[in-house]
Amino acid sequence: MGDVAYQKCIGHGCGAEFSVRESYFACPRCGDLLDVRYRWDKVGVPTRLAGFERRWAERGRPLSFSGVWRFRELLPFAPEADIITLGEGQTILQQADRVAPFAGMNPGQLYLQYEGLNPSGSFKDNGMTAAFTHAKMVGAKRAACASTGNTSASMAVYAAINRTISGLVFVGSGKIAYGKLAQALDYGVATLQLKGDFDACMARVQQVAAKFGIYLMNSLNPFRLEGQKTIMYRVLEALGWQAPDWIVVPGGNLGNSSAFGKAFIELQELGLIKKPPRIAIINAAGADTLYRVVNDEKLTWNGGRTDDARIKAFYDRMDAEGRRAKTTASAIEINRPVNLKKCLRALEATGGVVEKVTDQEILDAKAQVGRGGLGCEPASAASVAGTKKLVARGVIDPGERVVCILTGHCLKDPNITVNYHTRSDGELQELYKDYHVDRASFANRPVVVEDNMDAIVKVIEGLDQ
Ligand code: F0G
Repeated sequence: MGDVAYQKCIGHGCGAEFSVRESYFACPRCGDLLDVRYRWDKVGVPTRLAGFERRWAERGRPLSFSGVWRFRELLPFAPEADIITLGEGQTILQQADRVAPFAGMNPGQLYLQYEGLNPSGSFKDNGMTAAFTHAKMVGAKRAACASTGNTSASMAVYAAINRTISGLVFVGSGKIAYGKLAQALDYGVATLQLKGDFDACMARVQQVAAKFGIYLMNSLNPFRLEGQKTIMYRVLEALGWQAPDWIVVPGGNLGNSSAFGKAFIELQELGLIKKPPRIAIINAAGADTLYRVVNDEKLTWNGGRTDDARIKAFYDRMDAEGRRAKTTASAIEINRPVNLKKCLRALEATGGVVEKVTDQEILDAKAQVGRGGLGCEPASAASVAGTKKLVARGVIDPGERVVCILTGHCLKDPNITVNYHTRSDGELQELYKDYHVDRASFANRPVVVEDNMDAIVKVIEGLDQ
């Protein structure tokens, strides 16, 4: 399928094109981001999205079992023999009637897309299967990433199953949730704990990748985003191929929102959907670069003519003020989202909006998601907290159909969950004093009880009162 795909710079006035047999992580001419593009007339995409349903009967074939590659005509950059898959993307869309009232939504209208069901427990596997496939196409022997934890966990899984491409991860020391660090260590990937934050790791990994010719697995890599498009195809599939009104997603490095926007732009080009859902991207209030760039600075994609000088000036100001991202949702504790421009394109193409939510709102929403039966990590719950806020502000109507993306599993960050449910409000305030968390509004406190039947009976009788 190689000849139908190519890479193209998104930079206005550049637009340089490159083969998919090459690996660059920025345009070699102008340094801007690259897209993977397709000559669709040569692909043979089904004429209706329902055409993909024939893959359900072929689940014995790994490429049809995978929730990514069963849509392979929509990301046709690789020869089938190069595809590295472990059956990622077996995820579910839950109609979340127990969570809907919390978000202010009408019954039946709130859905949660649970990407925590992926092999490494987060949405990253959707992208990693695609990036490892491309790494194999270009003969890479070593791959690296900077990570707040989930990219590294996912990369570690794919390096472990593939074994011809070894992995190297950069994580910020003390900046990564325990479940994620545990995964990288257990799956045997070389792990560098840098004395710095995610942005420092991101800058270093790019230098290291350039110096040693190492393949970069961060979402700067356009092939990763191709895999992440499929999350949207699965949402459509679960809704009987009807687009919802809204997709709500947490915003960190902005890979997902960029990929989702590209998925909908392409589906429209192909005549496979009429109108895309609007994308709402939710920042943590302590890591709100996108929110400020869009809502305060009013920066837009502007048909590709993004005002790059103003973005640079914004970052320079941020550095001068010494402003650093700080949120208990460590997955999205990011200052300079690498996919900012592609995300602006997604916002423009879908009539999207950007909101921000406090850590208090995130942790309370997380507890509500947990009570709904799925459970997620803090960053993921930003989507539900953001929905609640957008409903309250009248941006989302309670009768619209909303899909929140739960990006990572509840077990990724057990410490914060256990602290939320077991600590007193005073202890929480002390523990998270830099994060403005004052209380656990929905704590499910464990009851400590003597090993004595009378005492246990008393507690149980008390449960129903
Ligand atoms: N949710 C989770 C659970 C994440 O791990 C991330 C990003 C995001 C949301 C943000 O997604 O970057 O596409 O906007 N985690 C990265 C990592 C940065 O290193 O694991 P985005």
